[in-house]
Amino acid sequence: MKKIWLRVWTKILLFALCLIPFAYLLWRIYKNDLTANPIEFITHQTGDWTIRFLMITLAITPLRGLLHQPQLIRFRRMLGLFAFWYGSCHLATWIWLDKGFDTQAMWDDVIKRRFITVGMAGLLLMIPLAVTSTPGWVRRLGYRRWQLLHRLIYFSALAGVIHYYWLVKSDIRPPMRYAVILAVLILYRAVTFIRKKSSPRVRNAVPANI
Ligand code: HEM
Repeated sequence: MKKIWLRVWTKILLFALCLIPFAYLLWRIYKNDLTANPIEFITHQTGDWTIRFLMITLAITPLRGLLHQPQLIRFRRMLGLFAFWYGSCHLATWIWLDKGFDTQAMWDDVIKRRFITVGMAGLLLMIPLAVTSTPGWVRRLGYRRWQLLHRLIYFSALAGVIHYYWLVKSDIRPPMRYAVILAVLILYRAVTFIRKKSSPRVRNAVPANI
């Protein structure tokens, strides 16, 4: 099993899988099959995949420990970048199709609609993470500082959940599902952090990888 994660083909396969939602969207555009409200359809598809990829990325660290598969770390960067990619498509839909590049209308939305404000914050937080996701940036910043910076992903995911919660009109179950997933992921990290701090053997250990 461990060898499978290390194969180059596994990474290529995962990359292809991550592109399926985008390919599906392009197919629906090509077929002119975007429901009665195309902008809403594209916004919802890209928004859904942004939050899903954020959660999947955050789940990698707990899964490594729970499944005893440390090699899963190889996929975290790619998954995080896909969260950023779908987030960028989501934002581009709003800027281009929804607001027609009208900067005044965009600014009004950002300051008047709280779900847009928090969504924007969530996406902006993802930019430094995407930029510094390369091994070169890990070296430049030093592992500890890089790791600290990359904890911003929790705030980005939290902003995404609040954004979703504030925008739904009646059924709060979908955003609440993500809120529960995020709470479990944060709790897991908090528990492992406390355990590590109280274990002298692990406290002095040097990280093997990122
Ligand atoms: C971390 C960043 C973000 C995440 C995770 C996210 C996620 C989502 C999700 C899950 C939805 C609902 C999809 C559905 O109902 O199926 C949504 C809707 C929406 N998002 Fe975002 N979003 C983010 C950032 C943004 C930004 C930056 C903007 C624009 C500035 C934006 C604008 C919208 C709009 C206009 C809707 C549709 C609202 C409606 O239906 O009334 N989002 N987003």
